[in-house]
Amino acid sequence: MRDFEFKNPTKIIFGKGKIAEVATEIPAEAKILMLYGGGSIKTNGIYEQVKDALKGRQLIEFGGIPANPEYDILLQALKVIKEQGINYLLAVGGGSVIDGTKFLSSAALYDGDSPWDILTKGIRTVKGMPFGTVLTIPATGSEMNSGAVITRAETQEKLGMGGPGLFPEFSVLDPQVVSSLPKRQIVNGITDAYTHVLEQYMTYPAGAYLQDRFAESIMQTLVDVGPRVIENPADYEAASNFMWCCTMALNGLIQKGVPTDWAVHSMGHELTALYGIDHARTLAIVAPSHYRYNFDAKKEKLAQYAERVWGLSQGTLEDKATAAIEKTEEFFQSMDIQTKLSDYTDAFEGTAELIAKRFSARGWTGLGEHKKLAPADVEKIIEMSY
Ligand code: NZQ
Ligand code: ZN
Repeated sequence: MRDFEFKNPTKIIFGKGKIAEVATEIPAEAKILMLYGGGSIKTNGIYEQVKDALKGRQLIEFGGIPANPEYDILLQALKVIKEQGINYLLAVGGGSVIDGTKFLSSAALYDGDSPWDILTKGIRTVKGMPFGTVLTIPATGSEMNSGAVITRAETQEKLGMGGPGLFPEFSVLDPQVVSSLPKRQIVNGITDAYTHVLEQYMTYPAGAYLQDRFAESIMQTLVDVGPRVIENPADYEAASNFMWCCTMALNGLIQKGVPTDWAVHSMGHELTALYGIDHARTLAIVAPSHYRYNFDAKKEKLAQYAERVWGLSQGTLEDKATAAIEKTEEFFQSMDIQTKLSDYTDAFEGTAELIAKRFSARGWTGLGEHKKLAPADVEKIIEMSY
């Protein structure tokens, strides 16, 4: 096992009816900006619950943050923060609203030339404006981590940011929010969380037995409860397990002491930036090709995953590793997630070359757990995903 440090300061408040507790978590004198998305919270009762909890408090709202939070819209919210003297942010939404709020938390205290630099110059946020979240969709883990991904339509870019100052102070996780989710978003959530685990697990054996078992148990639980949540989003037991899996998949715990990959996400983000494909679906497009292309480097973990998650014990190590990739692809397809780029766009020709060029321009010349995947490899992997 590798050496590591682990600190996660986010307080999780989990359970039925817990949204009311935002009132006790946010300091009484705070001037709050409540941020939300395109309006789902106004039809499923979450908006009223937050407003009731914060009755009598200094509260301003900013709605309209779109999926894949858009830089230009966030700049409008930044203006509100500065003009109104806001000193506490409350994200009520999914990964997009929470990530947008993290960007604002950072940008509000940033004194450089342009907040875009935070994304392009890799500036780590050590201190941000304090914020909390009310999670409305299990998927990204953003509610308990310090990363964010921001989109800029103007340049068709989707870039990451983060730093120890960007953990939410608290996150309310009420699994009842799952009941209003459309199937498309539920399957996205399962696929995203599952791939988060793969990114931190599908590398090479590192003698980290417990981390492997954590990762495998999250995947097993998702395989188990995923179909139940799809069938009946109001099944509280299934929804609560789904929600906790998504948080645990990317709150930092399972990546400690082990090598991690994250190349699938790097490539997937480009597909969202170029074609607007839902984040999770880009991962389902890229992951199978990525594992096939890097088969030799990953076959031991692939075979272990085949045995422990899918119960495949027949054949050689290579047979099991091959079957594991097929099982993963079938799992995504079983939820109506299509796994080829051509399923989403007719304009896929040239995509691989374009993304490889972008990676070269950004100096991303060594991706993956071995830091060896060059833009030429990325080009081949994406071509295999057509
Ligand atoms: O905007 P509204 O109207 O609220 O509708 C949203 C949105 O259209 C809807 N929704 C959310 N909660 C709902 C609901 N509809 C009905 N009932 C509810 N309870 O769902 C749609 C998708 O929301 P979004 O926040 O975009 O989904 P998700 O949580 O999957 O977030 C995706 C974003 O997170 C980034 C992705 O790249 C993408 O931009 N990621 C963030 C990560 C992180 N910070 O750690 C890691 C991930 O790998 C990912 O990159
Ligand atoms: Zn993801």
